[in-house]
Amino acid sequence: MPVTVVVGAQWGDEGKAKVIDLLSKEHGYVVRYQGGHNAGHTVVVGDERYALQLIPSGILYDHVVPVIANGVVVDMPTLFNEIDTLERRGISCERLLVSSHAHLIFPWHQAWDALAEAGRGDAKIGTTLKGIGPAYADKSNRIGIRAGDVLDPALFAAHLRERATVEDAALRAAGAAPLDVNAIVEEFVELAARLAPYVRDTVSALHDALAAGHQLLLEGAQATFLDLDHGTYPYVTSSNPTAGGACVGTGLGPRDIDRIVGITKAYTTRVGAGPFPTELIDELGEKLVDIGREFGTVTGRRRRPGWIDCVMLRQAVRINSLTEIALTKLDVFDTFETVKVCTGYRIGDTVLANYPDRMELLADVEPIYTEFPGWNRSLADIREPADLPAEAQDFLRLVEAEIGVPIRIVGVGAERDDYLLWDRPNDDAELVGAR
Ligand code: GDP
Ligand code: IMO
Ligand code: MG
Repeated sequence: MPVTVVVGAQWGDEGKAKVIDLLSKEHGYVVRYQGGHNAGHTVVVGDERYALQLIPSGILYDHVVPVIANGVVVDMPTLFNEIDTLERRGISCERLLVSSHAHLIFPWHQAWDALAEAGRGDAKIGTTLKGIGPAYADKSNRIGIRAGDVLDPALFAAHLRERATVEDAALRAAGAAPLDVNAIVEEFVELAARLAPYVRDTVSALHDALAAGHQLLLEGAQATFLDLDHGTYPYVTSSNPTAGGACVGTGLGPRDIDRIVGITKAYTTRVGAGPFPTELIDELGEKLVDIGREFGTVTGRRRRPGWIDCVMLRQAVRINSLTEIALTKLDVFDTFETVKVCTGYRIGDTVLANYPDRMELLADVEPIYTEFPGWNRSLADIREPADLPAEAQDFLRLVEAEIGVPIRIVGVGAERDDYLLWDRPNDDAELVGAR
């Protein structure tokens, strides 16, 4: 399996980093293909907790070459802060490669993000305020500054001053605080010199790695339903986390990819605004947030909780061509009396055949649930699928049957080794939709 994609199947924070860390053992390259420092990826190794925003989650292994590919938007202050923090903890980032085509984030992007959110009033998206949308907008407008531009320091400095001056005037006109153009030029010229040694033609580097027999792991940030095209627009991010985005964001072709792992929690969470059919606005929701520690890695915001939603997951299977699922945080239900799985959506008497294509419809659907008794015991030490309580096995089998794709990895705790490989014990039937 030379190229594997890992993609969030919900609204983010599914536990992608833990799965990437696990799969990194078998991969020589781990590649971020979109998003930026809006991501918060947590890996727990013993007593150590690593919270990564830009650096690929495979960094913790010495044999892995971490790559920030062309589809990512790079905030240099965050990148170097992350590198310094990791190196202080004994993890070398020397092998990091940054695509010459990756776009850079500057302080005006953050200023525009804040201004746009303030202007939206009650219709706020709830962005991470990291400047992600404005940076991708500049890329689309063809006025962005790219990582490769730092290789010509004089030209970079001139371009930076010109862009900062224009943005300063525009921000002032819009009523925002002025930019300190000289300070920005000084800071970012210095950062650019630090970035230069990492900058590469990563398209060639990745194809050369493939030709040399390396296995590549493409790490999605955000998730299917935060995708600019396929998510719950406008409550989405400004990139394409879905598997197609992995090709665009790396320069690998669709036929290079043969394994696509969708990550879902045993329940659902979402940060920021937007429709959420299975949301729990009650004490059970509070319990999910408490036990699941559902607070954002980047912004510290409380995540909105809800039941797992197989209508969403079926759509994620379609859009991403998922070949398998990793289901995380099953242990969070250890003390729940009952557990619910959403298997369909209804509007009035009509059961919807497909995921609603308009957000207004999604806001109106009524979830159809199957309810299970809980298992009332800790899953933390279970490593064999047959040792899972019958209720937990029933839960996994129903989710598989509903979405038609096998679950392979099941998370039973936050720590690196807290997982088991699920193989549907005592069940020979093929899943209907399995690829
Ligand atoms: P990502 O953005 O998809 O990488 O996910 P985050 O790191 O933002 O959030 C997932 C959180 O769940 C992290 O704190 C992980 O340490 C934790 N986590 C991952 N898998 C499991 C699991 O199976 N059980 C428990 N209890 N926690 C998990
Ligand atoms: P990881 O990779 C969860 C959400 C924000 C907001 C919307 C747009 O850790 O799963 P943006 O700043 O991207 O313009 O915000 O997207 N969002 C995330 N939610 N996990 C993430 O990343 C997210 N990255 C962005 O909360 O609703
Ligand atoms: Mg996260």
